[in-house]
Amino acid sequence: MIVSLFPDAMYISDDKYVLTKKQFDTIMKLDMKQNISNKVSKETYLLNKPTFRKLKNWLEKETNRFAKEVLKWNSLDFYITQSWVNVATKGESHHGHRHPNSMLSGVYYISPEECHIRMMRDTKMWGNFVFDHDPKQENEFNTLSAKVPVEQNRVVIFLSEQVHSVDPIEDDSIRISLAFNCFAKGNLGGRGHSSELIL
Ligand SMILES: [Fe+2]
Repeated sequence: MIVSLFPDAMYISDDKYVLTKKQFDTIMKLDMKQNISNKVSKETYLLNKPTFRKLKNWLEKETNRFAKEVLKWNSLDFYITQSWVNVATKGESHHGHRHPNSMLSGVYYISPEECHIRMMRDTKMWGNFVFDHDPKQENEFNTLSAKVPVEQNRVVIFLSEQVHSVDPIEDDSIRISLAFNCFAKGNLGGRGHSSELIL
């Protein structure tokens, strides 16, 4: 018998949100700057623009669905802080990173139709020892990363501390995604345990 201990969860929306022409055109006109291996918008509060009000509401609704229905963080209400756009073309990728000063993060996929995000296992589990095993025999218990396919117009939500990346783009597609961070309002802990935190 195998017992699965402390598995991590990430969320992919069942629903899809299709951008309006005005939203899409606004994204395509954003000023971009070079990141390590892709491009990122200079705008980092995109979802605060009135044009994106409905998309922001949908993304916050999906984030709270993950937090409350899956993680059971029922005393917290999540809201989006910063939001920006990433673009990668053939040969470009997105370096492994995590999102500081954020509790939950998300990525909404604009193009192409078939996208992915690569999630990294917290390598603290191996300590100072790097275990280079046969990649042909990877499974959920030994793999160091997982490539998760995501369709266009869906949002992926995950713990902000989880390191993630995007593999190099091998075809002529242009990968466009909208990323965001979230913090929460509400109550954590308990007064009697001196762990109460009112956000
Ligand atoms: Fe990210």
